[in-house]
Amino acid sequence: MKIKEIYKLAIDKAIESDFRGRKEVQRILDRKKESFEKMPEARKKLFDREALENPYLDSRILNIAEDKEIKKVLVGIDIDTAEILLGKEIKGIDLIISHHPLGKALASLHEVMELQCDVLHQYGVPINVAEGLMRERISEVARGVNRLNHQRAVDAANLVGLNLMCLHTACDNLAAGFLKKQVDQKKGLMRLKDLVHLLEGIPEYQKAAELGAGPKIFVGKKENRCGRIAITEITGGTEGSPKLYEKMAIAGIGTVVGMHISEEHKKEAEAANINVVIAGHMSSDSLGVNLFLDELEKRNIEIVPCSGLIRVRRG
Ligand SMILES: [Fe+2]
Repeated sequence: MKIKEIYKLAIDKAIESDFRGRKEVQRILDRKKESFEKMPEARKKLFDREALENPYLDSRILNIAEDKEIKKVLVGIDIDTAEILLGKEIKGIDLIISHHPLGKALASLHEVMELQCDVLHQYGVPINVAEGLMRERISEVARGVNRLNHQRAVDAANLVGLNLMCLHTACDNLAAGFLKKQVDQKKGLMRLKDLVHLLEGIPEYQKAAELGAGPKIFVGKKENRCGRIAITEITGGTEGSPKLYEKMAIAGIGTVVGMHISEEHKKEAEAANINVVIAGHMSSDSLGVNLFLDELEKRNIEIVPCSGLIRVRRG
C-alpha cells in the first residue's frame, strides 16, 4: 500500500465506527463544502482543503519523504524526534505512524471536538446545552494547542527523510465503537466492579494492569450500581467541559467510561454523582490503534510497536 491508501483506509474505518453514522458525517462534510464554495477567493486560498474530505483533522499525513510501497511501519502513541531517530536506526522502516496528533493535526485538535456534542445528544443531553458548553471548551483547547511547538517532530522527519502520519480520532473512534459494543452486549453490568472486570478481560487493559496502569474507579465505590453507562470520553479529541457532568446526570447517565480525567473534571463528576471508570490512557489508545493495525497486517504490512503502544492482534 502507498501512504495515501493507508491514510484513506484509516479515515474510512473511522467513519464506519463513528457514533454519528456515515450519513451524518457526510452531511457535515457537505456543509463544509457548501460554505467553502461561497467563500471569496482570498479566503479560499487560506482554507484548509483537507476539511472537505477528512472529518478528523487531527489525523493527517504530515511528511511524504518518499512515496513508496509501504512494507514496514513504526507505530507509537507519542512520536517525537527520539522516535524519528529510532525509525532511522531500525532497518527498513518505510513510514512512522503516531497516534497523538503532530504538526497541523495538533494545531487542529479542537476541530474534532464537535463530535462530542452529537454523542452527548445521543445519550440524552439536549443538543443546545451540549453545544453551548462544548463551544466554550473547544475555544479553550484551541488556545491551549496554539502555543505548542507543532512542527518539531515533522521537521525531524523531514530532515532525516522519513514518511510520517498521525491517526488520532481516526483510531479513537475504533476504540469507542469496540468498547460500546462490549458494554451494550453485557446487559447484566450492575455494579462498577463488574464494569472494571469486563474491561480487565480486554487484552490491552490486562497488559496495562500488569504494568501498573489497569482500569480504575476514579469516582464511585465498587459496589455502586452503574446505571446507564456512557462511552462519551473515549473519542472526540480531548476532555470535554467539566460542566457537562451535571447535565449528563439529568439526562440519565450513571457511569462514564473514560481514558483519563483531570482533577477538575473528577470533582465535577463527584458533585453530580456520576461514577467514573478510567480504562487507562496508553491502553485505550493502543486498543484503537491496534484495531487499525490489524487491517494493515491483513495487507501484509509489518508493524513495529514503540512509544507505549501495547500491540495486540485480533482476528
Ligand atoms: Fe490519547
